[in-house]
Amino acid sequence: MSQYSAPVSTDAAYAAHLDARDPLAPFRDRFVIAYPDLVYLDGNSLGRLPAATLALADDLARRQWGDHLIRGWNDGWFDAPERIGAKIARLLGARPDEVIVADSTSVNLFKLVVAALRARDGRPRVLTDDLNFPSDIYVLRGALDLLDKGHRLDIVPSPDGVHGPEAALRAALDERTALLTLSHTAFKSGYVYDLAGLTAAAHAAGVLTLWDLSHSVGAIPVDVGAAGVDLAIGCTYKYLNGGPGAPAFLYIRRDLQDTLRNPIAGWMGQKSLFDFGLDYEPAAGLRRFLTGTPPIVSLSLVEPGVDLLLEAGMERVRAKSEAQSAYLIGLWEALLEPLGFTLNSPRAARRRGSHVSLGHAEGLRIDLALIDKMKVLPDFRAPDTIRLGIAPLYTTYRDIHAAVLALRTIVAERLYEQYSSEAPVVT
Ligand SMILES: Cc1ncc(COP(=O)(O)O)c(C=O)c1O
Repeated sequence: MSQYSAPVSTDAAYAAHLDARDPLAPFRDRFVIAYPDLVYLDGNSLGRLPAATLALADDLARRQWGDHLIRGWNDGWFDAPERIGAKIARLLGARPDEVIVADSTSVNLFKLVVAALRARDGRPRVLTDDLNFPSDIYVLRGALDLLDKGHRLDIVPSPDGVHGPEAALRAALDERTALLTLSHTAFKSGYVYDLAGLTAAAHAAGVLTLWDLSHSVGAIPVDVGAAGVDLAIGCTYKYLNGGPGAPAFLYIRRDLQDTLRNPIAGWMGQKSLFDFGLDYEPAAGLRRFLTGTPPIVSLSLVEPGVDLLLEAGMERVRAKSEAQSAYLIGLWEALLEPLGFTLNSPRAARRRGSHVSLGHAEGLRIDLALIDKMKVLPDFRAPDTIRLGIAPLYTTYRDIHAAVLALRTIVAERLYEQYSSEAPVVT
C-alpha cells in the first residue's frame, strides 16, 4: 500500500455508500443521462450534455434566430464572447475582463504565441515539455516557422512519461528564453504543474508564460491571478460541458492586453467595426483578440455548463475529484495491479488532475472490449494508456467501481482477445 492512498473497500456496497454521502450527487440530475447503465468516464474529452443546454438550444434556434433574426446581435450575441468569458474567469481566478471566448484552442494558442514572441523580440528560445498536447507543439512550430526570426523550440523531456520535468524547466529558463508554454494538466498522465512556482521562476528570468488549461478548467481551482500568469488558453468541451467543438477561451493579464497585437486581425477586433475603415485599429482590451464573427450557437451553449460549475463551486468539485481519483487508485492497487495494469498518473493528489491513466500492454484491445462488452466508455491514448476521466458533477463512485470490475473481468477472462489491435479513427 502506498503512502498516498488509504486502503479502500472493493465492495459495491461501499461505492453506493460513498454516493449516498456525496454532497454533489444531485448535480447528476442536471445532465441528460440517456442510458443510466452506461458508465461514462470520458468527460475529460467530451463532457455530458447539461439539461439546461437542451432548452437553450431550442430557444436559440426558434426564438433568437428564427423570430428575432439579425436583431439578436444587439440582444446578447455581440457581447456573448465577453459575457461568457467573464464567467469562465471566475473559474480561473481571473478578472472578468481578462477572459474571452473565441475560435479553437489551437487558433488561440497560435495568436498568443505570435503576440508573445513579438513582445519579447531578441529572445530566440521557446520552452515546453514532451507531455504537452502534440497539437500544441505543431502550432508552436508553425508559428515559429512563420515568424522566421530564428526561434528555437526546446522540448524538455519528462523523466518518466508521467511527471513534468519541473526542475529541468526551471534550470533552462534564462535571458535567451522568450516564452515558457506548458499544459497545466498533462493530457495523458494528468500531471499538474505548480502554476505559481513555475510562473514566478519564468518571470524572474524575464520570460512570459502561456498555459494550456484545457484539462484544468472546471476540474481544478486554478488561480491565474494569484500566480501572475501572463497568458492562457483552454477548451470548453471537456469539464465545462460546452459541447463538441465548442469555441475555446483565451486569457491575457490585464496589464498586457493593450501591449499585445493579434496576428489574425479581423473586423471583430477592430475599434470601430461598423465604420468599415480600411485601416485596422485594435479595440481596447481583450476584444482585439477576436478575429471573425463568433459562432453564436455553439458559443451560447457553453454558458449553462459554466453556470453549473459556478453553482457547485470549484473547491467542492476538486474535493470530490481528489476523493474519486484516490478511490480509483485504491481499486487499481487491489484489483488491477496484480493483472499487469500500471498506474500512469501521479500518486500525489496535488499533482494529479481529474483523470487517472492506466497502462497495459493490451490497452487498446482492453479499451475496445470495455466499450463493446461492458458499456463502459473511457478513452485510449497510444501506445498503452486507458484514461478514466472523472467529472465530479456527474461521475458516481458506482461508475468507478463498475469500470474497475469490468477491466478486471476483461483481463482475467481474456475477453480482449476477441478484438483486433487495429485502432478506430477516434479512440
Ligand atoms: C490540452 C489540449 N490542448 C489543445 C487541444 C486542441 O484543442 P482544439 O481542437 O479545440 O484546438 C486539446 C484537444 O483535446 C487538448 O486536450
